[in-house]
Amino acid sequence: MTTLLQVKGLSKSFGAVRAVSNIDFTIREGHCVALLGPNGAGKTTTIRMITGLLKQTSGKMEFQGAAEGVHYRSLIGYLPQSPSFYSWMTGSEYLIYAGQLCGLSAATAKLRAKALLERVGISGAAKRRIGSYSGGMKQRLGLAQALVHQPKLLVMDEPVSALDPLGRKEVLELLRELKQETTVLFSTHVLHDAEVLCDDVIIIRNGQVALQGAIDRIRENHRKPTIELQVEQDEHSQRWMSTFSRRIQSLLNEKDEGALFQDVQLQNGIARFTVSEMDAARRMLIEELAREQVKVSRLEVGHTSLEDLFMKVVTG
Ligand SMILES: Nc1ncnc2c1ncn2[C@@H]1O[C@H](COP(=O)(O)OP(=O)(O)OP(=O)(O)O)[C@@H](O)[C@H]1O
Ligand SMILES: [Mg+2]
Repeated sequence: MTTLLQVKGLSKSFGAVRAVSNIDFTIREGHCVALLGPNGAGKTTTIRMITGLLKQTSGKMEFQGAAEGVHYRSLIGYLPQSPSFYSWMTGSEYLIYAGQLCGLSAATAKLRAKALLERVGISGAAKRRIGSYSGGMKQRLGLAQALVHQPKLLVMDEPVSALDPLGRKEVLELLRELKQETTVLFSTHVLHDAEVLCDDVIIIRNGQVALQGAIDRIRENHRKPTIELQVEQDEHSQRWMSTFSRRIQSLLNEKDEGALFQDVQLQNGIARFTVSEMDAARRMLIEELAREQVKVSRLEVGHTSLEDLFMKVVTG
């Protein structure tokens, strides 16, 4: 599949603050890419450099398919983190205005505005002032504005973060449709949004890429077996649980790569062990529980989720 945008060694410093540090990634045509990271990771800074609103300190961005003499910026549609509108305009007026700013004729802009208002599901409010729109409606209008010139790449900064749960769901569904039609890059700090929408994910932390690739491949490669264990409330069982978890934890601190137990989390009375080999770990655990006469209330096998990995990558 062809590469649409290639970002190489992109960095941005604000005085002493290194907001983005030597980022590399590729966006392939037709893919939907999530830029995922916690607050302050450098998402907005990266996006603003890609859209040409902020000059990078160093690094390059190569956009394929931009004709000679045409800045690639014109091939990008952009929805900022907090878009602002003229609240006295109607949705329709605003889109026609945005279309004309992008160089469309008045007649074409009008047609395009009508089609887009329908596309994003707010044609019923086309003649209402934007000031009366809900957050979700404004976000839809922002999307329509980003699409007005039929961009090759749609770039959105936290497109659903400011919305309530219903608005989020609606806009996520709309984005799911839109991504069939265009290449998409969007930022989010919520793994779920990346999971429901994207093909590829770039996880950034402290301005650097912590992990990137196809989300399905990442999910598969990092999947590890787990055992969840819960014991009765009696003092003996509870004491065993905390002693055993501590024992595993101290073994972990020795960083033995071949160890049977690779992680342990004790939370709300439930211990969750990540193990390298399920059969051996389960046998060992069951023998220990029997020997120590621990009253087990639940023992459940499973596997680590993408959420586990994400938490580890952004906090670890
Ligand atoms: N104009 C600026 N001047 C100084 N520092 C800045 C500026 N813009 C961003 N930063 C710093 O750069 C870092 C990255 O900020 P950025 O806004 O890109 O993060 P983000 O991932 O978009 O965060 P959020 O999830 O909160 O939107 C932060 O430490 C921030 O304080
Ligand atoms: Mg941001």
